[in-house]
Amino acid sequence: MRKPLIAGNFKMYKSVPETVAYLIELRALAKEVRGVDIVVAPPFTAIHAAAAAARDSNVAIGAQHVHWEREGAFTGEVSAAMLFVAGARYVIVGHSERRTLFGDTNATVNKRMHAAITAALVPIVCIGETLEQRDRNETLAVLDRQIKESLDGVTGEQLAGMVLAYEPVWAIGTGRNATPAQAGEAHFHIRQRLKQWFGLEAAEQCRVLYGGSVKPDNIAKLIAEPDVDGALVGGASLDAKSFLAIITGATV
Ligand code: PGA
Repeated sequence: MRKPLIAGNFKMYKSVPETVAYLIELRALAKEVRGVDIVVAPPFTAIHAAAAAARDSNVAIGAQHVHWEREGAFTGEVSAAMLFVAGARYVIVGHSERRTLFGDTNATVNKRMHAAITAALVPIVCIGETLEQRDRNETLAVLDRQIKESLDGVTGEQLAGMVLAYEPVWAIGTGRNATPAQAGEAHFHIRQRLKQWFGLEAAEQCRVLYGGSVKPDNIAKLIAEPDVDGALVGGASLDAKSFLAIITGATV
């Protein structure tokens, strides 16, 4: 059995004091939660303070992006080791906003993912098709290419500890979530490919999250799909009570 994971992606929202206040509220609200891993990914600036605010709780901190080099003359970038020391334990890589707005490709996502693993961060690797690709019936082929290229060089053992997030681009921030059946179909396909390419055992352990307009009122049906192991939540994670409702919705 894979333990569900609910991860909140703040995107470019919340200052340091706002993030700290949120974590103080969330850790109190979530203190009785068992059986679900909880991750909050604030902007870089708030990671250290967030980790301090979440210390000794069941909430782990993640980052939203990472550079693949350990250090160097890379103005504006942050390394995986720096994130780890700041208190992050997870990092989102290849989010569709990074891919479409900032030029991330499967090749750069792959480098970021390997750097994360080397620094003992758990990568949350995002994949997913655009609306045009879905309409052209290319969804499964797009997912195959993203899995193959983004996860190139990963061992079965590494895959077992990693997280993937299936996020159909047309469902992100649009209020239009994939139906449980659409998510279920994509997740089943992803799991089959992972089994084929990384072995049965690793594929059974790797958690695959769904992302895209997850809300308190649709999480239960999504998580009921056998290959959906949790959610990557944007908008609905920004309010601690709404995020808690999603977390508890994932426990049933
Ligand atoms: P959303 O974002 O929940 O606001 O649709 C999801 C994501 O971008 O990970």
